[in-house]
Amino acid sequence: MQNIHYKNTTLFSSRLIYGCMRIAGDNSAQDKAKGKLAIRAALDAGYTHFDHADIYGDSHCESLFGELLTELKKETPAIREQLIITSKAGIRRDPQRYDFAKNYIINSVESSLQRLNTDYLDMFLLHRPDYLFNAEDVAETFMQLQSSGKVKHFGVSNFSPSQVSLLQSALDEPLLVNQIEVNIHNITSLTDGTLDQCQQLGITPIAWCPLGGVAYPAWGNTFSTADEQRIEIELAQQAKKYNCLPWQLILAWLLKHPANISPIIGSTTPERIIAAKQALTIAYSHADWYRLLEARNGYAQP
Ligand SMILES: NC(=O)c1ccc[n+]([C@@H]2O[C@H](COP(=O)([O-])OP(=O)(O)OC[C@H]3O[C@@H](n4cnc5c(N)ncnc54)[C@H](OP(=O)(O)O)[C@@H]3O)[C@@H](O)[C@H]2O)c1
Repeated sequence: MQNIHYKNTTLFSSRLIYGCMRIAGDNSAQDKAKGKLAIRAALDAGYTHFDHADIYGDSHCESLFGELLTELKKETPAIREQLIITSKAGIRRDPQRYDFAKNYIINSVESSLQRLNTDYLDMFLLHRPDYLFNAEDVAETFMQLQSSGKVKHFGVSNFSPSQVSLLQSALDEPLLVNQIEVNIHNITSLTDGTLDQCQQLGITPIAWCPLGGVAYPAWGNTFSTADEQRIEIELAQQAKKYNCLPWQLILAWLLKHPANISPIIGSTTPERIIAAKQALTIAYSHADWYRLLEARNGYAQP
């Protein structure tokens, strides 16, 4: 597995991140056993970075990971130091809203640590921008989490470039990542400055639902049947050329971007978790990258 270095840190992360949003399934014994097998498959395949959020599976996903971590520590005592564990908070329920209030964030991190059975998070991300956030207050919260040893590094998720700039202006610490939806369906980050800002500031863009629009419908899917067919035909041709599966090309398409996008793989199927790595070996051409974009758009670049 290829690794990437997070700028100004000692953190090295596997280029593909394993996403833990679905590992608990419906929290039945059967789904939990499947989730544990998926994490073990990811570890065996060289994934070292595991993505969580306080709300995934109503917190059952973090609990399941914590359970497995206890088992893994018995097998490999130094395992914790070999992993990057990221979690997120900021989405509140009843009513659904985004909230960066200090007490709420600190309590949420402490609960995540208990569930995950770890003393610290390698990275804590604000899950979705709270439109009412005050950058100085968030900076104070981050410093408290860091000085207490509960969080090593910080990042954001679903932030616009101006929201990143605002928060960064109040922080001494660099924001390490912006976790965003980017896939063949949702290409907003290519044009709204998000990926440019990542390159400029050395922020790693992390792609959630990287296969949205192809392996399954993307969030807010607007593709028509004709759009899907054009993409399918182009992908089939390119898959033949590169001797790989169509969905692996979609990952290669993301990996080609110079901002060094890190896709999160959230499949709970061991074969897919392992096969995703093949995307890292595809020497994807500039011309084919544009051909796929054109198939997606339905028109040639002007
Ligand atoms: N920051 C955010 O706002 C945010 C939002 C959403 C997700 N995330 C993060 O991103 C991670 C990935 O998101 P995700 O789980 O929605 O996306 P995903 O990894 O692409 O998986 C989504 C679904 O698609 C199926 N799937 C995956 N690969 C497939 C393939 N090659 N062919 C057919 N079906 C396939 C999976 O089924 P199987 O399990 O059966 O393979 C799974 O049910 C999450 O685990 C989470 O960590 C972050």
